[in-house]
Amino acid sequence: MNVSTLQQKITALKQSKKAILLAHYYQSPEIQEIADFVGDSLELSRKAASTDAAIIVFAGVYFMAETAKILNPSKKVIVPDVNAGCSLSDGCPPDKFEEFLKNYPNHVVVTYINCSAEIKTLSDYVCTSSNAIKVISTIPEEQKIVFAPDRNLGNFLIKETGRDMVLWEGSCVVHEAFSLEKLIRLHQKNPDAVIVAHPESEAHILRTAHYIGSTSGMINYIKSSPKTKFIIATEHGILYKMQQDVPDKILIPAPSKEDNTCACSECAFMKMNTLEKIYTCLLDESPEVLLEQEIITKAIPPIQRMLQI
Ligand code: 13P
Ligand code: SF4
Repeated sequence: MNVSTLQQKITALKQSKKAILLAHYYQSPEIQEIADFVGDSLELSRKAASTDAAIIVFAGVYFMAETAKILNPSKKVIVPDVNAGCSLSDGCPPDKFEEFLKNYPNHVVVTYINCSAEIKTLSDYVCTSSNAIKVISTIPEEQKIVFAPDRNLGNFLIKETGRDMVLWEGSCVVHEAFSLEKLIRLHQKNPDAVIVAHPESEAHILRTAHYIGSTSGMINYIKSSPKTKFIIATEHGILYKMQQDVPDKILIPAPSKEDNTCACSECAFMKMNTLEKIYTCLLDESPEVLLEQEIITKAIPPIQRMLQI
């Protein structure tokens, strides 16, 4: 089946099954085109919590679909590919994290939403890159904090909030792939370009950035900026939505360390989702995200605390 036939079939199935297709900005353009809502992690969580659709098809990575299930447990949440993981989530196994936390009694545990449902049950607060500073600033000054699983976002938050936090040593394979040397060379060739970066990037990349923010934060910044040229240090998929929002501006992907032929950084996990897989998952209503009631009950409060903030 070609792209447009698949898109039409998915749209028809969505209507007949009263399903909603939620897609992260890192999904391929043909998926974003037919999604009912495209957003960053925070926006997708809010949408998942408020939808009255019978079925949520989550085109993102697994922890995002789990969050949708936790926030709307009576809904059927299905995913195109159960193996669409995340290096941050996979790099923080619950048994190891539980052991780690034993070294830090009396610490409040703040976890980045890029973690498994089990890790969320061990957390006091969940945050996303959009609201992490806000979440941390609601915690009393004298309170000690453990932050997991992203050390780069953690170090950025330490710098921004002045808080001394214990960090779990996790990272995102995509955002650690940018080359500082190549980025500097690219900027020398384009001195008028503004560098924007996601806070999952390494500290040396963040130091060169003129703006640091979440996926939506970067889109809004570029939309409202009077500047016309930008170098984007985040996953390549975001360029599709960004370019639609600012058709007259020049967007250049930040170069990665390994790849000399392509300047882009793609999240292989996000790109596991395809139109074919969305079609079959909607047709079969499977694979479904299923979580034990105990996990849902324990994971809701830290996520709700974030949504209330
Ligand atoms: P956002 O919270 O900006 O959507 O980021 C999610 C993510 O996985 C970034 O790599
Ligand atoms: Fe996880 Fe990084 Fe992919 Fe985001 S880009 S889903 S943090 S591996």
